[in-house]
Formats: sequence, structure tokens, C-alpha cells
Amino acid sequence: MSHTDPVVPSTAPLAPEQVASLNSLIKGLQADQLLWIEGFISGLRAGSGAPTPAAAATVATPELTVLYGTESGNSEALADLTTKAAKASGFKAKAVNMADIKVAKLKDMENLLVIVSTWGEGDPPETATDFYEDFMGDKAPKLPNTRFSVLGLGDTSYEDFCKMGKDFDARLEALGARRVYDRVDCDVDYDDDFAKWHKGALAVLEAEAKPAATEPAAAPTAAAVAPVKYSRKNPFPAELNERVMLNGEGSAKETIHLEFNLEGSGLTYEAGDALAVVPHNAEDVVDDFIQTTGLDPESPVLIKEQDYTLHQALTSQLDITSISLPVIKRYNEIAKDAKLEKLLDPAHKAELQDYIYGREIIDLLHEFPAKAITADALVGIMRKLPPRLYSIASSPKAHPGEVHLTVGVVRYDAHGRNRKGVCSTYLAERIAEGEKADVFVTPNKHFKVPANGDAPMIMIGPGTGIAPFRAFVEERKAIGAKGKNWLFFGDQHYLTDFLYQTEWQDYLADGILTKLDLAFSRDQKEKVYVQDRMRENGQELYAWLEQGASFYVCGDASRMATDVDVALHDIIEQEGGLSKDDAVAYVKKLKDDKRYLRDVY
Ligand SMILES: Cc1cc2nc3c(=O)[nH]c(=O)nc-3n(C[C@H](O)[C@H](O)[C@H](O)COP(=O)(O)OP(=O)(O)OC[C@H]3O[C@@H](n4cnc5c(N)ncnc54)[C@H](O)[C@@H]3O)c2cc1C
Ligand SMILES: NC(=O)c1ccc[n+]([C@@H]2O[C@H](COP(=O)([O-])OP(=O)(O)OC[C@H]3O[C@@H](n4cnc5c(N)ncnc54)[C@H](OP(=O)(O)O)[C@@H]3O)[C@@H](O)[C@H]2O)c1
Ligand SMILES: Cc1cc2nc3c(=O)[nH]c(=O)nc-3n(C[C@H](O)[C@H](O)[C@H](O)COP(=O)(O)O)c2cc1C
Repeated sequence: MSHTDPVVPSTAPLAPEQVASLNSLIKGLQADQLLWIEGFISGLRAGSGAPTPAAAATVATPELTVLYGTESGNSEALADLTTKAAKASGFKAKAVNMADIKVAKLKDMENLLVIVSTWGEGDPPETATDFYEDFMGDKAPKLPNTRFSVLGLGDTSYEDFCKMGKDFDARLEALGARRVYDRVDCDVDYDDDFAKWHKGALAVLEAEAKPAATEPAAAPTAAAVAPVKYSRKNPFPAELNERVMLNGEGSAKETIHLEFNLEGSGLTYEAGDALAVVPHNAEDVVDDFIQTTGLDPESPVLIKEQDYTLHQALTSQLDITSISLPVIKRYNEIAKDAKLEKLLDPAHKAELQDYIYGREIIDLLHEFPAKAITADALVGIMRKLPPRLYSIASSPKAHPGEVHLTVGVVRYDAHGRNRKGVCSTYLAERIAEGEKADVFVTPNKHFKVPANGDAPMIMIGPGTGIAPFRAFVEERKAIGAKGKNWLFFGDQHYLTDFLYQTEWQDYLADGILTKLDLAFSRDQKEKVYVQDRMRENGQELYAWLEQGASFYVCGDASRMATDVDVALHDIIEQEGGLSKDDAVAYVKKLKDDKRYLRDVY
């Protein structure tokens, strides 16, 4: 195409002589020459000097990073979805795990979307800890050229709801980055909030970055036309093949071993992954709800555009136990109770936490009855029933088509009521062998047996923490890995609580397990824990680490994992003849090398 006629209109915001000279310049130009000029002018406008002809001929595709921090894979899955959506909007987008990059790299990121979950009590996900510490500290670079938005994943039943999302959001702003879309904090039922956030944030970034080209839609792949894909959104109904009580008679513990059938599901997993189970609530708790409110169990209710009876909704759709600040707030909009109002006042935060501890929603209904509550109003105060995660206790190589779990059943008394954990008691008593439970796999990419089959492996797994190590040892046996394996296990009593005792003894006899150290805490006057056994074996443990061993911990996060960490530091300091700081650096190197891995809850 050539332009033979003047094209700049006289209405342009230019002097008449400028219009004339522009028209004379444009006259007769070819399309590629016009494009060059367009690039040249936009280069001038951006203050970056004249572009090269090549750069001017094609407008660069803007880059976008979706930075995620995850422990159980939710943030990663959402980061992948966001990356795909960003590509479809014309960005050169990539998802980056906080576990895999240094904080200094942030300064290269002009368009940044952060998706991060919160763990422990307001802590970062295990694998994002180093990144988070550097990010909050002096190592973080200034980010004047960064546009960002943050999605926090969390759970309203925790006091520090979405703390990581909040911290990342505030810190990015403090580092000079510009928030282009407000942070969204998600509860366990995050699909709608996520959809709104990623569409909104991408639209703003797209408008600002003006991406030139939209990547062509990918051709349909074999996966896209695959029949049914079971996932978090579409869990697989897995048949319970077997349930075995692992504790002996007289034990204070109730730990069950479960075997589910995955045949025909297409679900795959690796030793170290977790299985999510979607439970049903207990019948007696549902009945108590219905009696207390006086509502008809057959009342129709609508949840996310699906019809249920009230009874169905309370049984399989709603979290009818977890009591949290948002739940109490929503309930009090109906109950309008002065005492609750006072508890909800931010000045009484500590009293509210006191009230919440050991209580469930049923206590609210009893203690602060709401007159004439409707079925819809009752349903409206609760969130969706969240699935529970369990560390998988089997290797698929040893048990093809099956997945095994080790579940500690939660029962306790509080405020005059017998309480039961929703999912652990569902697995213990509300599904029978031959019945099905909805499940899906949540991969844990970092918690895997050493890639080098010759490397030694040290496993610390008291109580249900034993689960992934049963899978690890099965895996190493199945692949013929020659590396040494050392297990530390502990529970209350040798006679009743030695989980999978015969399996470990067989592995020891076969030489698959090189060493087994046991800490039965209540078989003697003084408590003995796994970390005491570690200390007794400090010299050898350090020698294994020096030989390249990986060190794994699974089980209780709040006390055990912390105490084991202290013991590990002490052993390294003592046996390595190192200073405290050097021992810290040694452990940090283990973590950096992905040789100190934890799956704690
Ligand atoms: C990655 C991961 C892996 C896991 N792996 C395993 C595993 O292999 N095996 C396993 O058994 N569990 C495992 N868990 C824990 C599991 O997900 C569930 O949290 C557990 O089964 C309890 O769920 P529930 O539905 O039975 O109890 P819920 O209904 O969720 O009730 C538990 C809640 O009850 C309250 N509570 C419990 N005891 C008391 C008490 N004495 N006083 C007052 N309040 C109390 C607490 O608020 C607690 O959070 C894992 C968790 C994660 C995150
Ligand atoms: N987040 C959740 O929703 C959730 C749900 C279920 C379980 N959990 C956690 O998972 C853990 C596993 O439960 P579990 O019943 O299988 O086993 P457990 O309670 O961890 O007990 C296993 C063994 O560890 C001992 N132990 C207690 N404190 C310890 C410490 N500081 N260091 C090392 N060992 C210690 C226990 O001894 P004593 O009992 O004699 O002290 C027992 O011998 C629970 O403790 C709980 O915190 C969390
Ligand atoms: C042991 C444990 C501790 C948790 N602690 C918190 C917390 O302190 N605050 C919060 O908002 N959410 C908390 N959560 C909820 C997680 O953030 C939530 O499940 C999230 O979806 C996990 O995302 P991820 O799979 O990307 O790690 C916790 C969950 C577990 C299992």
C-alpha cells in the first residue's frame, strides 16, 4: 500500500505548517516504513532513544511473572491457570516458584502477580521461607518499575488469615512497586474470588502494557480431548478397599490405615504427594443443627446455583463446624446479640479467640439463638466444606492402582460436648469398606526421595508423621535404590502404638531399612522423643549428612518439627565442631540443596 494523498487532518493538534510537513513526509510511504516511524515515535515517547529498525518493526510482547509460594499445591495450580490466561491476553508469561528464585530477581519483573498461601500460624509456606525472609529484609531491591497485584490463599478459621498475602502486598508497595489491582484474600473455597482477581488484574495490566499480539490459541492437544479428568474441581469417587486399626487395645490413640482403589481414575501420584479427601459431616451434628434451629430438613436451599435440601447442604456441602470471625459476624447479623456484638469489637480480640477455642458453630446456635432464622440465612453464614489433606502412605510402584493413608482420628471434649474431627471420623466411621469417598491428589514436588538412589535418607516421622516414610521406603525398595535408610519413629507406647511394626521389622531384616530408632514417650517416667534419639546418635547422624544424606521430617508442626530442628542444629554444631552461625549456615545449605525437607501440619 502506498499513500499518495495527505493523511494528517487539519484538526490535528499541530500548527498548519507542521500538518503540511507531516503530510509531505508521509506521502508515498510504504506500510513497513510507516511501521518503522510508529516504533521510532513510541521509542522517543518512552524516552528510550531511537529504536533499531528491527525493534521498531515489531512491538515487543510484554513479560509477566506469576510468582507463587505454595505448600500443598493450590497456589501453584492457580499460578498455572493465571499464566495460561495471561498468555491468552498477549503476555509472555511464566509461573515462578518462590522456592526457585532469589529476591534480587524481582527487579527484572515489570508485571508481577503474586499468589501466596499462609501456613503454620501466619507463616510462609515451607519452601518459600527463605524467599520471604529475604523479601522482608535488606536483600529486597527497590521496585519502582513494577506493577503488581496479590492474591492471598488462606483459611478464615486461622487467626492470621492470609497473612502472607497481606505481607507481600504491603512490602511490594513499600519497595516502590505500584499496585494496579487490589489484593484479594481467599478462604478455602477460592474459585470465585480467584476468577474475579485474575481477570481483573490481567485486564488492568493488559490495558497498561498494551500487548501487541495475542498468542495464537494452542491447538487442541490429546489432554484437551481426554475423557474425564479428576481433580480438585471434579474429585474421584474412590472405593475404600480396606480399613485397619493400627493401634492395639488399650491405646489412647486411634490411628487407622486406609486403602483406596484408584483404578480407572487416571489419577497418578508419587511417594511424597498428599491425597485430599472431601468429607461428609457427622449425622448427629447435622441433626443437632436442624433441631436447634427448628428448621425443616427438607427446606430447599440454593448454594452456588445448585439446589439442595437443608439436610443435604448441611451434610455434604457446608463447613458446619469451623467457627471464625467472619462466621460469627455473619451469624450476628441475624442473631443481633449484644454479647456477640461486644466480642466482635476489635478491642476484644483476645476474648474472641478465647471464645472460639474448642467451640463450633453449633455452640453459637445454642448459646445465642437467632429467632426465626430461615434455611437460606443459616446456609449463608457458612463456607463450603473444605477437603482435608493426608500424606500418602504408599508408593504406586508397590501398590499399583491403590493409595494408602495413615489417619489419626481426632476426638476431644470441649465446653461440655464430645467433638469429632470432620474428616478423620468420616474416614473412621462414616464410610464402610466397599463405599466411595471423593478424593484428588495434591502433588508435593519438593517432598520426594533423593534423586540419587545411592544417597542416604534420614526420616523423622513420629505418630502419623510416619505416613510418607512408609511410601518412601516402598519406593526405594521398588526402584532398587542402594542408598542407606534411617527411620526415627515415636509414639506413646511400644505395645500399642508402634505403627506398621511388622513392616519395619521386615525391612530391617531385609536390609532395606539400615537403622530404626524408636522413642516411645510414655513407656517410662521421663518423656523420650525422636529428637532425644537423634541426639544420642548425633555422631552417626552427622556422618550420614556428610555423606550426602537427605533429612526429612513429617508430622506435628507446632512442637515436634521445631524441636527436631533445634536438635539438628545442635548436632551439627557439636559433631561438626562448628560455631552456632556456621551450624545455621550448614542447615541453610541443606535446605538450599533440597536435602532438608519437611511435610508438617
Ligand atoms: C499436608 C498435610 C498432610 C497431612 N497428613 C496427615 C496424615 O498423614 N495423617 C493425619 O492423620 N493427618 C494429616 N494431616 C491433617 C489432616 O489434614 C486433618 O487436619 C486432620 O485429619 C484433622 O481433620 P478433621 O477434619 O478430622 O478435623 P477437623 O474437623 O478439621 O478438626 C480439627 C480441629 O479441631 C480442633 N481441635 C482438635 N483437637 C482439639 C482439642 N483437643 N481441643 C480443642 N480443639 C481441638 C482444632 O481446631 C483442629 O484444627 C495433614 C495435613 C496436611 C496439611
Ligand atoms: N493441623 C491439624 O489440623 C492437625 C490435625 C491432626 C493432627 N495434627 C498434628 O499432627 C500431629 C500428629 O498426630 P499424631 O497423633 O499422629 O502424633 P503426635 O501427637 O505427634 O504424637 C506422636 C509422638 O510424638 C510425641 N511428641 C509430643 N510432643 C513432641 C515434641 N515436642 N517433639 C517430639 N515428639 C513429641 C508424642 O508424645 P506425647 O504424646 O507422650 O507427648 C508421641 O509419642 C499431632 O500432634 C497434631 O499436632 C494436626
Ligand atoms: C497446618 C495448616 C496451617 C495453616 N495456617 C494458616 C494460617 O495461619 N492462615 C491462613 O490464612 N491459612 C492457613 N492455612 C490454610 C492454607 O493457607 C490454605 O489451605 C491454602 O489454600 C493452601 O494453599 P497452598 O496449597 O498453595 O499452600 C493453613 C493450613 C494448614 C493445613
